[in-house]
Amino acid sequence: MHRLDPQKLPRHVAVIMDGNGRWAQKRLLNRVAGHEAGAESVRAVVRSCREIGIPYLTLYAFSKENWQRPRTEVEALWRLLKRFIRSELPELMEREIRVCHLGDAEGIPEDVLREVQNAVAQTASFRALTVNLALNYGGRHEIVRAARLLMEAVHHGTRRPEDLTPELFATYLFTADIPDPDLLIRTSGECRISNFLLWQLAYTELYITETLWPDFREEQFIEAVREYQRRERRFGKTGEQIRCEP
Ligand code: FPP
Repeated sequence: MHRLDPQKLPRHVAVIMDGNGRWAQKRLLNRVAGHEAGAESVRAVVRSCREIGIPYLTLYAFSKENWQRPRTEVEALWRLLKRFIRSELPELMEREIRVCHLGDAEGIPEDVLREVQNAVAQTASFRALTVNLALNYGGRHEIVRAARLLMEAVHHGTRRPEDLTPELFATYLFTADIPDPDLLIRTSGECRISNFLLWQLAYTELYITETLWPDFREEQFIEAVREYQRRERRFGKTGEQIRCEP
């Protein structure tokens, strides 16, 4: 029993899964063992979201900056991602979970990309939960890409500069059809956004925990959602205004 208020569930939870390396180091294991343990936490959090009834979950699995890690770690991460997507696909389908990709397809190793695209295609009709995998993703890059697409549309005469609004701009992002996150969880205590969903996090509640990602399982996830339910979201208004709204 998770005892969460069903009326105040976040629609979208985004996660910066940090601390795999430190988790491994503490156990005198190599960093890849930390990522492997982290994959277990991914499984646990996906299952929790599905059970609780949270419709969108976004996981920061591989950033544009992660390419700068040692080659062996980069290769191991992609291998793990490929293996994980392949092994989880039957359960995802059984539970009617849709997989989406946020980020650049270009640059992702071909065999991994095939696995991602297969999972996206096979689960496209499901809506019980949408899991967005941010792979080869960078927030600034996403915004520049949207600006470029808009400039091209203006150049071709399909858009006019005076039509541009925040809502229109958002339709050019990878997250075009996805509501902004209500809650961002970052594990392992760092207080940074790290180029994640820069546009979409404008009004998101931030939850930072010292727990390392491999130790972050269902209990810790529910505690994060419980903390979210204690917050008062004001969106620039006063507390009195919010409390008087119907
Ligand atoms: C950060 O920990 C984690 C990553 C860069 C990768 C996240 C990947 C996983 C959790 C693996 C599985 C993912 C999926 C979607 C199956 P870190 O290595 O930066 O930790 P550190 O800061 O302690 O070194």
